[in-house]
Amino acid sequence: MNLIETAPIVQPARSGRVADPCAMIIFGAAGDLTRRKLIPALYNLAKTQVLSREFAIIGVARSVMSDDDFRKKLTEDIKQFATEPVDNDIWEWFVKRLYYVPGDFDDKNVYTKLKEVLARVDQEHTTHGNHFYYLATAANYFGLIVEQLAANGLMEQNQHWRRVIVEKPFGHDLESAKALNQQLLKVVKEDQIYRIDHYLGKETVQNIMAFRFANGIFEPIWNRRYIDHIQISVAETVGVETRGGYYDQAGALRDMVPNHIMQLISLTAMEPPVSFRADSVRDEQAKILHAIQPLSAEDVLSKTVRGQYGEGTVDGKRVPAYRSEQDVPPDSKTETFVAMKLQIDNWRWADVPFYLRTGKAMAAHNTHIVIQFRQAPFVLFRDTPVETLMPNQLILHIQPEEGISLRFAAKVPGPNMRLGAVDMNFEYQDYFGSQPSTGYERLLYDCMIGDATLFQRADMVEAGWCVVSPVLDVWKALPPRSFPNYAAGSWGPKDADELLERDGRNWRNFEK
Ligand code: BG6
Repeated sequence: MNLIETAPIVQPARSGRVADPCAMIIFGAAGDLTRRKLIPALYNLAKTQVLSREFAIIGVARSVMSDDDFRKKLTEDIKQFATEPVDNDIWEWFVKRLYYVPGDFDDKNVYTKLKEVLARVDQEHTTHGNHFYYLATAANYFGLIVEQLAANGLMEQNQHWRRVIVEKPFGHDLESAKALNQQLLKVVKEDQIYRIDHYLGKETVQNIMAFRFANGIFEPIWNRRYIDHIQISVAETVGVETRGGYYDQAGALRDMVPNHIMQLISLTAMEPPVSFRADSVRDEQAKILHAIQPLSAEDVLSKTVRGQYGEGTVDGKRVPAYRSEQDVPPDSKTETFVAMKLQIDNWRWADVPFYLRTGKAMAAHNTHIVIQFRQAPFVLFRDTPVETLMPNQLILHIQPEEGISLRFAAKVPGPNMRLGAVDMNFEYQDYFGSQPSTGYERLLYDCMIGDATLFQRADMVEAGWCVVSPVLDVWKALPPRSFPNYAAGSWGPKDADELLERDGRNWRNFEK
C-alpha cells in the first residue's frame, strides 16, 4: 500500500531540530535499562543526527569500573541490544563520550567526584553546562539523589538548563508519591522534573491523539451517545522473570495501572487540548484522571478482580506457578492480574464503562483498546438474531500489532439477507515501514529540547494513585483466598469474564 500524503502537521519548534548540547548523567548506569534501552536509543538518535555533536554521557553506579571498562562493557552490550547492526564510525564517535564515576548513591563523595568530572567533560565536549540526570536506580534513591545533586549546585540553572528524568515506580501509593513530589519540589522546580512513563514513548500511544484530533470523522461520535463501552487490555505472556523481588512488593495493580493504563485511559478519553503545548495536553489528561469516579469499598468488591497465575503453558512452554518463581515467597498473596470497571464523571462519558485488565503469563502478548459502539437502533434483517449481530468496534492495536481496525457488519453473499462481521484494517508497517526503535528515543530527545508533553506532572501522578488507592486499601484488608486462580497461558481468572458478562458484554481477545 502507498502512503497517500504525509500531512505537514509538524510542530515548528521541533521540526528537524538538533537537540541542545548537553551531558547526560545516568544513575544506575551498570543496570539493565542502560544497556538494553538508553544506550541503544541514544545511539539511534546519533545515527539520525538529532543528537548534538556536543554531547557526553557519565555513568554513575556501584560497580567498580574505569572509563575504559565502561566503554568496553557498552561496546559489547550495544552489539546485543542495538535495534540494527552498529555502524562503527558512529559508535567510535559515541564511545569517546562515555565516562564513569563509581560509588554508592548515598555517599556524598560521589557527588563531589561527579561535579569534578562534569566540569572537565563540559569543557571537553562543550556541553554549555546543560545537564540531565536519568535516575535508573531503585526507587528509594530518587529523592536522595536529587537532594544531593541540588546540595552540590548541580541542579542550578543559569545560562544553562538542568533537568532530571525520574523512572517509575513514582511512589508506592498516594502518600509516598506525594511525599516524593514534595521532597523533589523542595530542591528543584516542577519544570525541571521529567517523570517518565515509557508507554508515552510508543508511537501507537502517541497516535491516539493524532487519530482522534487530526481526523474530522471520529470526534463527533466519540462520546456517550454513540459509544457503548471501552475496553483496555494489556496482556503479557511473560511471567515475572528475574524481577520477583520488586514485583512481589508491587503487584500488577501498582506496576501497571496508575501509570501505563492511566495514560491509555486519559489519551482515549480526554477533551481536545487547546494546543499541543505540554501544559495544554497535560491539563486535559489531568482533568480525565480527576473525573474518574472514586471507588467505594463496595465498588472494589464488585468492580475489581485480582488474580495470580498458577502453573500452565504459555506459547507451548510449561511455566511454573507465580509462587514458584525466583524471589517470590511460596505463599505470596501478590496479584499478577487485575481487571477493573471504571466510570468517568463528565458530560462526554457519563454511564460509559471503561473496563481494563492487565496480567502476566497470559494467553497472548497484546495491548489494545476496543471502542465498542452502540447497536444500530433497529435490526431489520431476518435470519440474523439481534444478539448475534456484532456491534461496531474500533480497535487501536498498540503492540505487538500496530494499527487500527474497524469492525462492521456486511451482507453475506447469497439469496438470503444474512449478516457477517468484517474488519477494515490499517497496519503501520504497510504505510510507514517499520523504524527500528527502543521506544526511548523520543522521550530522551524531548527532554533534551525541553518538551515535557510526554512526561507526567506531579498532579497527574497523584491523580493516578488516587484512582487505585481504595483498591489497595480493600485488598490489603481482605487478602485473597483463592490464589492461584488462573492458569498461566489463559486469559485470566473467570471472575474477570464475569465482570463484563454481568453487564451483557465480553472481552475481545486477540490470540496474537
Ligand atoms: C513495566 C512494568 O513498567 O512495563 C513491567 O514494570 C511490564 O512489569 C512492562 O512488563 C510492560 O512494558 P511493555 O513496553 O513491554 O508493554
